[in-house]
Amino acid sequence: MSRRKQIYEGKAKILYEGPEPGTLVQYFKDDATAFNNQKKGTVTGKGVINNRISEYIMTQLNEIGVPTHFIRRLNMREQLIKEVEIVPLEVVVRNVAAGSLSTRLGIPEGTQLPRSIVEFFYKADELNDPMVTEEHITAFGWATPQDIDDIMALALRVNDFLVGLFLGVGIRLVDFKMEFGRLWQNDEMRIVLADEISPDSCRLWDVRTNEKLDKDRFRRDLGGTAEAYQEVARRLGILPEGGPRDMKGPETMQ
Ligand code: TMP
Ligand code: ASP
Repeated sequence: MSRRKQIYEGKAKILYEGPEPGTLVQYFKDDATAFNNQKKGTVTGKGVINNRISEYIMTQLNEIGVPTHFIRRLNMREQLIKEVEIVPLEVVVRNVAAGSLSTRLGIPEGTQLPRSIVEFFYKADELNDPMVTEEHITAFGWATPQDIDDIMALALRVNDFLVGLFLGVGIRLVDFKMEFGRLWQNDEMRIVLADEISPDSCRLWDVRTNEKLDKDRFRRDLGGTAEAYQEVARRLGILPEGGPRDMKGPETMQ
């Protein structure tokens, strides 16, 4: 494996020093966790698929003018990204009630929401990522009002784009989570989309059958998690080279 300096290890990804200043290498693991690390497992080939799906989505977002940290995919499990300062928020956009919104407000899963709803959670594992409002975010200095405006505008653009992208392949985007970062260029700061967008961080339901094609299969012990992720990639037309059998292949393969 790599002798590069490891910068950070998260639950599903590792960040290494990049080849040039201001860049990092993002490595996608097969590890899966849920409920703040209480449930742990591995989903074979997940890292390969998430690397490809996130590449596909971030590339298209870059093309429509949504700034992201993504530069290019390096190999089966790694992508080159711009180094950013992560805003310590998980930004969730919801189109259909599910998960913690359904639990919190007693709205049955599957209920179409009157409009897309944006929620913020403070990234703090030891506190279980509590939901916070703009009041907390600005009072504690996690982001400025201007940052929040930028994040809201980007989050809704990403949502509109992804709803259409997935609907085109028979998938309903129920909700998803994003992280944003601050990128400095010549003394100017821009908020950009960071982290990943993949079935780990989205709820994706088949439009016809409502079958879950995302990490809820792992969270809820439904089985077939790897197959569901492959199905998302297949529908998007981006199964890894060589198909599913290739997913454990050499890490240096293009
Ligand atoms: P929630 O219903 O559990 O709040 O999740 C909303 C969305 O955010 C769902 O698509 C899953 C995603 N999510 C993450 O990506 N990471 C997390 O730690 C959590 C709690 C949710
Ligand atoms: N991401 C997990 C979940 O969605 C939480 C965690 O990894 O701790 O449930």
